[in-house]
Order: sequence, then structure tokens, then C-alpha cells
Amino acid sequence: MEALRVERLRKSFGGLMAVKDLSFSVEQGEILGLIGPNGAGKSTVFNLIMGTFRPDRGRIFFKNREITGWPTYKIVNEGVARVFQIARYFPHKTVYENVEISAIPNEIFRRADQTELKTMTVCRRTGLCGDEGCGEGSCLCRVQWPGMLPQGGLRRLEIARAIGTDPELLLLDEPFAGLSPHEVDEMAHLISDLRREGQTIVLVDHNMRGVMGLVDRVVVLCFGEKLAEGTPEEIMRDPKVQEAYLAGGGV
Ligand SMILES: Nc1ncnc2c1ncn2[C@@H]1O[C@H](COP(=O)(O)OP(=O)(O)OP(=O)(O)O)[C@@H](O)[C@H]1O
Ligand SMILES: [Mg+2]
Repeated sequence: MEALRVERLRKSFGGLMAVKDLSFSVEQGEILGLIGPNGAGKSTVFNLIMGTFRPDRGRIFFKNREITGWPTYKIVNEGVARVFQIARYFPHKTVYENVEISAIPNEIFRRADQTELKTMTVCRRTGLCGDEGCGEGSCLCRVQWPGMLPQGGLRRLEIARAIGTDPELLLLDEPFAGLSPHEVDEMAHLISDLRREGQTIVLVDHNMRGVMGLVDRVVVLCFGEKLAEGTPEEIMRDPKVQEAYLAGGGV
């Protein structure tokens, strides 16, 4: 079944067409790589899907239901979550509290202990409790502030905040950017674990090599247009893609 479908999406900023008649779909349970050189329009596509921007033209469907023009909170409630290219968090709340905000169930009458259980599960799941597992009240996630986390920890916090909303579709914008090689490995593990658990993911990266082993299919964007679509192997062999990347600075 299709999780997401975008049809002929278009978005201009003044005279610049950032996304031009873009169509693609994402099947439930797959990881789709959305790849392209800097400025190709990748983050704009996420902003369109999340309702941050309204498309000039085109339509967006989530599980066959049209969500074009919906406000962001409604799209989140429907089951879509995104992780920003630049980490966003509440600096004066602990790591635990940052996750708790997104994990609070929507239903008014849910009990507080359910929120706690869910928050702890999400923190543990994303490696925010340290190597020893979760020490409950004294756990790392309850005593650390986001500012104390290394870059990889901040990214995992972002993912925790996103999966706290129980998304069916998770949009990850350059989750590997700025990470050390060790942190890149940790992040790749987390993403493939999420996928194994059935999470549908769109993974944006400007660098194709980094995501080759993770994604099922790839859509390549260049100047807002779809340049190619296929398996990672097909994409790596595609002369059009190689040319675009040579012009834009390496695969
Ligand atoms: N809010 C905005 N106002 C004006 N122009 C914008 C806005 N957002 C994006 N753009 C422009 O649209 C184009 C696509 O930008 P976008 O951020 O989507 O690219 P990207 O593929 O995510 O790039 P990067 O790999 O650098 O993150 C760029 O030329 C950018 O300058
Ligand atoms: Mg971007």
C-alpha cells in the first residue's frame, strides 16, 4: 500500500522554481532516499509535505487521503513526522522532558504514567539513556540537557521527538550531516532498526554513497526536478546522475 504520493508538486520562491512538477510515491515499510546536490529542493519537498509551505500546484496524498493545504498539526496527527536539517529542541528542558512533550498522547484522559512509559521507551529506543540501559529516575536522559549532548546525540534526540508522535511516515532531513564516522554508524543502525520495525521513511541526503546501503529506492532531484528514480544500483550507474553530481560536486 502507498504511504505517500505527491503529484506534480510545484513551488516557487519569487523567480526561483525550487520544486518543479515533482511526482513520486513511497510504499509502506520502505525507505525512499531523496537525493540531490545542495539547493536541489529536498528540504522544500519536506516543507510542502508537512504543510509548512503550500504548493503552487500539485497534490499530496497520505495513505490515499489528500492532505494538500492542511495545517502542520493536522498532518502530524494524521501520522507524519519530520526531523529538521538543523536540530530544534528546548534548551532549558532535560532530554527526557524534550521527548515527553512529543510523547504526550493526544487523548485528554490518557494517564500520566502512560506518557512516562512511552517517553522512557522512546528514549531507550534512540540510545538517549546511555550504554547501561535506562536507570529510570536517575537515567542519563533525566539529568542531561540537550546542550550536553554531542552532535550524534542531538540528532537522536530529534528522532526521539519525531517518533514520540507515533508517526507512520518519518521524514529525515540529512540525519548524517555533521556526524563523526562512529556517529554515522550509530545513526545508520538506528534507521535500519526503525525500518525493521516497519517504519516507513523518506531519507534526504545530498551524498548518495552514505545512504546506498540503507534505502530501497532512490529519487534524485536536481534543480527541483526529478532527474532519475530507481534502485540504488541503477542510480549509481545512471550517467545523468553522475553528470549532475560532477557539476554539483561529487556523488
Ligand atoms: N523560504 C525560502 N525562501 C526563498 N528561497 C528558498 C526558501 N527555501 C528554499 N529556498 C531556495 O530553494 C532552493 C531549494 O532549497 P532547499 O533548501 O529545498 O534545497 P536542499 O536540496 O534542501 O539543499 P541542501 O542540500 O543545501 O539542504 C534553493 O535555491 C533555496 O535557496
Ligand atoms: Mg536541505
